[in-house]
Amino acid sequence: MKGLTQIESILDGKSKGKVKIAGWVENLRSSGGVQFLIIRDGSGNIQATVHKDGVDEKTFESGNKLTQESSVILEGEVKEDKRAPDGYEVKVKKLEVLQIAEEYPLGKKEHGVDFLLDNRHLWLRSRRQRAILKIRSTVIKAATDYLDNQGFYRVDSPILTPTCCEDSTTLFETKYPGGKAYLAQSGQLYSEASIASLGKVYCFGPTFRAEKSKTKKHLAEFWMLEPEMAFYDFEDNLKLQEGLITSIVKEVLRKNRKDLEILERDIKKLEKIDAPFPRISYDDAIKLLQKNGFEIQWGEDFGAPQERFISQQFEKPIIIHRFPAKMKAFYMQPDPENPELTLAADVIAPEGYGEIIGGSQRISDLKLLEKKIKEFKLKKQDYEWYLDLRRYGSIPHSGFGMGLERIVMWLCGIENIRETAPFPRTMGRMKP
Ligand code: 4AD
Ligand code: MG
Repeated sequence: MKGLTQIESILDGKSKGKVKIAGWVENLRSSGGVQFLIIRDGSGNIQATVHKDGVDEKTFESGNKLTQESSVILEGEVKEDKRAPDGYEVKVKKLEVLQIAEEYPLGKKEHGVDFLLDNRHLWLRSRRQRAILKIRSTVIKAATDYLDNQGFYRVDSPILTPTCCEDSTTLFETKYPGGKAYLAQSGQLYSEASIASLGKVYCFGPTFRAEKSKTKKHLAEFWMLEPEMAFYDFEDNLKLQEGLITSIVKEVLRKNRKDLEILERDIKKLEKIDAPFPRISYDDAIKLLQKNGFEIQWGEDFGAPQERFISQQFEKPIIIHRFPAKMKAFYMQPDPENPELTLAADVIAPEGYGEIIGGSQRISDLKLLEKKIKEFKLKKQDYEWYLDLRRYGSIPHSGFGMGLERIVMWLCGIENIRETAPFPRTMGRMKP
């Protein structure tokens, strides 16, 4: 609409004098012939006051009818006012009511999380959820900018796929003309094809896992950023991961300080994040856990308590490397020093927020990859196209997947991953 002022530009001191604002009434009260409105327009919140003796009777009357979340367009004068919640207020001269909202279900009282999730379409308007959405938006831009600036191309991968990439027990199956398809667990195999065309690529999109258990860290639909690089060895891969995470954290600290404060995030902890990250081999991680009373055997995967314990030994994200081949995916390059291990590494977030990156060097030898496909009981004919990549100009290459919602969870300091997705899909919920 023409002639509107963004609240953000008022708060930044860039818009002074007469303004016209369109938005929602987030909060309201009146006292002694003055109506105090908190107006939200998406860019920020500002206090607007309607004075009985400053407007005509009709305007004051429409102000009286307003309810929480009513939509309005108002015109008025910006005043600096130390008493106002954000240091500025707008003295209203004209008020146009677009709609008087019905009684808002998310009122002032405390609500249970199920109620909030049922009303996710409204819950998104809250200060806290806005802060999370803004941080999520920064993370996406910071991550893709970082890669774009290093000569990567974005090549997106299909969502409907004929085969499995990770664990076949978490596949979502769906009908497809003439048969069935699976929702993508990862775009990696396709990115491996694209690097022979463009060298360094990434895909970024929704991925799907029918996880068996309900946890605080697993979504059924999550977004994954997956860089894949030709001629990158295991070490090059880890360096890129450290650089990527560090630059995301720095950008969120630069752009979203206020949002982190709204979330009561301990910012000092994030300020410590810088490359290089500490590293520990899977073997040593198992020994460390056993020494500290955890009942875990070599060859087993870490559960949430073990992951938390390891992460609490360090202040930065930690790289756990060289996992047993048996517990990881079929495409991972064996460690030349011990073929029972793979050149795979996970990055674990500090403070117990769990795995944020999983990656590896990929097998480039045709015969070895064929053998692994057999060992993992996958159907070779489904992977012929993938094997072609080893038949026509095979090269050493590596890549990784970064879980967007896990990063957001960690940076925001949120206990449950479902708050990091605008409309979360978990094993128990697909509504609204
Ligand atoms: O470790 P994962 O399963 O790795 C892959 O899918 C590889 N194909 C990636 C690659 O090399 N291109 O998943 C990667 C990351 C995890 O570290 C985690 O951050 C996130 O994706 N992730 C999930 N996030 C939310 N909910 C889930 N159910 C997730 N599963 C994995
Ligand atoms: Mg993993």
